[in-house]
Amino acid sequence: MKKSLAIIALAAAAVNASGATPTYLDDSRPLEERVEDALSRMTLREKVNLIHAQSKFSAPGVPRLGIAELWCTDGPMGVRPEVLWDEWEQAEWTNDSCTAFPSLTALAATWNPDMAMLYGKSIGEEARFRNKSVLLGPGINIYRTPLNGRNFEYIGEDPYLVASMVVPYVEGVQSNGVAACVKHFALNNNEINRHTSNPIVDDRTLYEIYLPGFKAAATEGNAWSFMGGYNLFRGEHASYNPILMNQILKGEWGWDGAVISDWGAVHDTRTAVTGGLDMEFGSWTNGLTNGASNAYDNYFLANPYYEGIMDGTYSTDELDDKVRRVLRLTFRTAMDRNRPWGSMGSDEHVAACLEIGQEGVVLLQNEGDILPLNPERKMKIAVVGENAIKAMTVGGGSSSLKARYEISPLDGIKKRLGDKADIVYARGYVGDTNNEYNGVVAGVDLTDSRSPEELKAEAIRAAKDADVVLFIGGLNKSNNQDCEDTDRLTLDLPYGQNELIEALAEANPNVVVVNISGTGVAMPWKDKVKGIMQAWYLGNETGNTLASLIFGDVNPSGKLPYTYYATLEQCGAHALGEYPGHPGTDQLGNEVMDIPYNEGIFVGYRFTDKNNLTPSFPFGHGLSYTDFSYGEARVGRKEGTNEDVFTVTVPVTNTGNRVGKEVVQLYVADLESSQPRPVKELKGFRKVALAPGETRDVSFEVSNADLSFFDAATHSWVSEPGEFSLLIGSSSADIRSGVNITLLPR
Ligand code: BGC
Repeated sequence: MKKSLAIIALAAAAVNASGATPTYLDDSRPLEERVEDALSRMTLREKVNLIHAQSKFSAPGVPRLGIAELWCTDGPMGVRPEVLWDEWEQAEWTNDSCTAFPSLTALAATWNPDMAMLYGKSIGEEARFRNKSVLLGPGINIYRTPLNGRNFEYIGEDPYLVASMVVPYVEGVQSNGVAACVKHFALNNNEINRHTSNPIVDDRTLYEIYLPGFKAAATEGNAWSFMGGYNLFRGEHASYNPILMNQILKGEWGWDGAVISDWGAVHDTRTAVTGGLDMEFGSWTNGLTNGASNAYDNYFLANPYYEGIMDGTYSTDELDDKVRRVLRLTFRTAMDRNRPWGSMGSDEHVAACLEIGQEGVVLLQNEGDILPLNPERKMKIAVVGENAIKAMTVGGGSSSLKARYEISPLDGIKKRLGDKADIVYARGYVGDTNNEYNGVVAGVDLTDSRSPEELKAEAIRAAKDADVVLFIGGLNKSNNQDCEDTDRLTLDLPYGQNELIEALAEANPNVVVVNISGTGVAMPWKDKVKGIMQAWYLGNETGNTLASLIFGDVNPSGKLPYTYYATLEQCGAHALGEYPGHPGTDQLGNEVMDIPYNEGIFVGYRFTDKNNLTPSFPFGHGLSYTDFSYGEARVGRKEGTNEDVFTVTVPVTNTGNRVGKEVVQLYVADLESSQPRPVKELKGFRKVALAPGETRDVSFEVSNADLSFFDAATHSWVSEPGEFSLLIGSSSADIRSGVNITLLPR
């Protein structure tokens, strides 16, 4: 507090001395004028100080000029608790409990950009209230393998879906005067060996699959900051990779924001200076572990940089560019006097958490319409599984939260049924009993001294005696189970859950599996259970969200943002590409893990489509408690434009007897091409709410850009004349209608 008062006093002094407000403090002046004015007043030392951390999550600004400190916070799903100055441990504040929002995979599964806007706005309000200038999120790395430990922090496998969701998220956050920091740019697609992974990716794959989300965030969402990844690309670390940062992000995309390193991702001064990095954070912390303490003056972009400038090793051109970018970031956030105040833990945020979760949960299977359960019917429910009682907002790495509260699935179900509840809970297995992360402890004691056999036997007894079994299991954000810095070791569920589910299905014909995870898992028992729900980490309102869907207060409307593989071999990264790679060397001769992305553009459904594989559930799949029928699609060429623009329209009807939402999906197939192309690619989607019996026309515009591929030889997007199909469906494997169009030679 004292420090910020001092800064205000200094700024006021700057105003008084000259009698007029200096340009850089005058927010009626254009941003670039203010930036140049501030830059011209700074000493070399002040410039160098501006571009590296002073504590675990902050940078110092320029106290002499009243240029504010920049405070960052994790993460994509809630505002991280306050940590000590130079440690990861929490500072034990009593007023920093946040709203824990659903994981980003849940947001992706809403297929609803309005939800992304609501999410961004709400989390941005919490960050603003805590006086943070930069929110370290969203994470948008492509789901290349279901084993990636951080898939739950990302938005799925499809570049179009990612691009569509990231833009409103960024806009929502930044409407609070808080910068989104889009991460991890780029190709940070696994956690194992994350500091040495060196993806080998061709340009076409890079531009078609791995960059579109980032490009949309930079050019449409106007994200004010980006975070570089820990990994390498073409032998150079991503956080200061000249191709990614200078050539693409700042060059081709003309982006004027600031690149922030991942925490501990900088290894060298020279390349950090020239490779397009603007701010260095977390050095010697190696991400999640600790190295030297209070080492800020020794940062690669601190004294070593200053000395290098003084002895003529570096010019000041790069430094001035970095400073301009950091000043822009500061003026847009910490020094925007008009930014709103924000709010924390409000009723609106709780409502947003609930609504996003309800729209995101995916009903994968519903044999015999076992769901929804009728809350009015007298029935005995056996709830089985550790995730019914485990707090999931704690753990998983940097996205771990100190939530204001968290309603467990079991409590949510009990609350929904009230007096009518006839519930027996049996844990079934012991998975992870640790409910602590960086000093934040979730208030559930999960220790259990019973043997695995006893736990299983109890669950089977409960199942035999029940009308319905709700198995609530999955992963849990512990190491190797959806957690930063580790990948999963197998596609299978851990802790004997497969065997347990099989046994439950033998004991009772009415089993519903609620799988809580942020990524796909193998489901060898799929045909033996009636219902399957993909529930994500749903934050504060987990239990209420699930109960509202299980008992039909809300009709499910989520769709899968990734292909739900039956086996790892159905995933191109494992079948063709390498994972986790093989030893190689970087540009300096250091040992790295080369990962050839041999599957190229054939990621996710692009791979299963091409190879006629039937996954457990396809990309875009999700059921409802009502039914939707699709009419014939019709197409027209849009007049009055110089480009080829087509409009395709399809009538969609709710033929059931409940209000419901359907995600109508548009895929484009190139029927004649000089290049290999995916069987089809997502190029549009709309989520529509329909009352029973209601029909609505759903329209999409398709232009050249949607028909193009990236031609590496000419480094440009090319749409070739010829025939294309526009396919409209309820999932990537459930196409209901289609029309062909012809692109004429120009
Ligand atoms: C993670 C980032 C995170 C940062 C700060 C790193 O380990 O990769 O996503 O924002 O730590 O906590």
